[in-house]
Amino acid sequence: MKRLEKAQTPAEARALRLLRALGSPVRLRIVEIVAERKDCTAPQLAEELGLAQSSLFEHLSALREAGLVEVSGEGPNRYYGLDPSVLNSLAAYLGSVGDRTRAWALPGATARERGSVEIRDANLDDAPALARIYNQGIEDRTSTLETELRSPEERAEWLVAHDARHPVLVAVDSGGVAVGWSSLNRFNPRAAYDHVADMSVFVGRESRGRGVGDVMLTALEARARAIGYHKMVLAAFPTNAPGMRLYERHGFITVGVYREQGMLDGRWVDVVVMEKILR
Ligand SMILES: CC(C)(COP(=O)(O)OP(=O)(O)OC[C@H]1O[C@@H](n2cnc3c(N)ncnc32)[C@H](O)[C@@H]1OP(=O)(O)O)[C@@H](O)C(=O)NCCC(=O)NCCS
Repeated sequence: MKRLEKAQTPAEARALRLLRALGSPVRLRIVEIVAERKDCTAPQLAEELGLAQSSLFEHLSALREAGLVEVSGEGPNRYYGLDPSVLNSLAAYLGSVGDRTRAWALPGATARERGSVEIRDANLDDAPALARIYNQGIEDRTSTLETELRSPEERAEWLVAHDARHPVLVAVDSGGVAVGWSSLNRFNPRAAYDHVADMSVFVGRESRGRGVGDVMLTALEARARAIGYHKMVLAAFPTNAPGMRLYERHGFITVGVYREQGMLDGRWVDVVVMEKILR
């Protein structure tokens, strides 16, 4: 048991804490009620649940300790609310376990997908798909320090700002649906950095682990070479197993790790910097 506890990553320990706090029908119901009503008082909760106040407070304090429920105000104006980012982090953790299961449960899926995805330049009609796929990556909290969700309008402006040296590519499935996007981004506006391109790659949740990222990175690298870049660079989370595997398989080398570089949902995040010289 001790060995298991030691082996836990912070993400696992956090997920376990949340699952334990939620692991009773009453507490789950409390979270649902508070989610629906936004702010609730203890008497309202006690009445809706048919619980004695002492029992209710026990459940509320377990939920508060896990960071799920927050309190504001004093005395009769004491309100209980939810911290949605905590629930999102649990969803992202479980989602990443699901992604891993899917990746390994479908041997051969990578090879199958390879022929069925077409890579083309993005156009303004792709803006809603670009926003949808990027927002999934933002919400998952496993790949980017970006926390602001994007609208199709904002992605359209972003797309227009990407000139020919900074292309945005989309991966389209056999039904014409955009399932991923990648881009070359300006690394630094100083002219001396013009030979370096920063890159991004995002695959929609439903299409991950099937080789789409692999196909997109191959196409992006070919485009970077065609434009004449000398180097591609990227920043990633060292905990992003599919991302790290993808980059390492494509010959990206780790330059270093910025420790505790970002703060996501109240937790420090390390960021690994990688590069590939395009010889
Ligand atoms: C990271 C990401 C782009 C990879 O794309 P993908 O289509 O899911 O990955 P692929 O199926 O092409 O797999 C790439 C490699 O990772 C491996 N892989 C896929 N899922 C994996 C998982 N869950 N755990 C470990 N390795 C995994 C694959 O086996 C493959 O390696 P291989 O060629 O040696 O077999 C995609 O998962 C994604 O968009 N994730 C969310 C956003 C993100 O992380 N973007 C990158 C920001 S730095």
